[in-house]
Amino acid sequence: MPYETIEVSPISPALGAEISGVNLAEPLGNQAFSEIHDALMEHQVIFFRDQELTLDQHKDFGRRFGELHIHPAMPGPEGHPEILVIHTDENSKYAAGQGWHTDVSADIEPPMGSILHLHQVPESGGDTMFASMYAAYEALSDDMKSFLGDLQAHHESEHVHSRGYVSRSGKLRDGENAYPAALHPIVRTHPVTGRKGIYVNSGFTTRIEGLSATESRAVLDFLFKHIETPEFHCRFSWRNNSIAFWDNRCVQHRALWDYRPHVRSGHRVTVKGDRPV
Ligand code: SIN
Repeated sequence: MPYETIEVSPISPALGAEISGVNLAEPLGNQAFSEIHDALMEHQVIFFRDQELTLDQHKDFGRRFGELHIHPAMPGPEGHPEILVIHTDENSKYAAGQGWHTDVSADIEPPMGSILHLHQVPESGGDTMFASMYAAYEALSDDMKSFLGDLQAHHESEHVHSRGYVSRSGKLRDGENAYPAALHPIVRTHPVTGRKGIYVNSGFTTRIEGLSATESRAVLDFLFKHIETPEFHCRFSWRNNSIAFWDNRCVQHRALWDYRPHVRSGHRVTVKGDRPV
């Protein structure tokens, strides 16, 4: 795909590209916006370096891609409910996103994308891994694709949002929707690219509708193991003021906490999405 306003350098065959030639602190022109969107659709997760952003500039960038999502269980800084603070230091008991997941997949309409800006990172460690759910789906046999294609799975959040990293907050998006739960297809068709990808993750997906408990556990365990195949992955090494923007509709991610006692800190803006089909 030809790009005129940005440079796009893929970092692995399955997914991931580094974008340069744009300052995200400035309002994004239509051509640059459209090329960044195209790069995200093509590479599923995109990365930017050396971006100094205020919270408002971060939110403005996110809003070019859609309305901003408010996390069901983690309040943002004062005046910024759309900001999710990602912070780990020597006193932390948990780090965000340590298991493979897509963000808040237990929402009926889960977020389309997440934009993470880290302003302080350790000298080494603290990488984030990303896995292409297109690649994971396409590697399955035709019979397995057709078996999974008829199934739906339950995604729940109480076991995630009532403990661990999230529970340190204690304030909720609203009383009714504090612990969302949803039934989503196991194979999801991306609304823009039309490509199919696996849409179950070990963070939120608890069971497959219509299968016995043992059958459901066996199929989910197979899929959770399958998505760990390294050929479906890329890995991003952060520097201060890097950004990762991933498409939750076709990507899972996992943050590594291998840098204790050092600090890793930043903010995430999450863009609303639609109901998976
Ligand atoms: C997250 O799951 O949003 C956190 C990812 C990270 O800290 O790399």
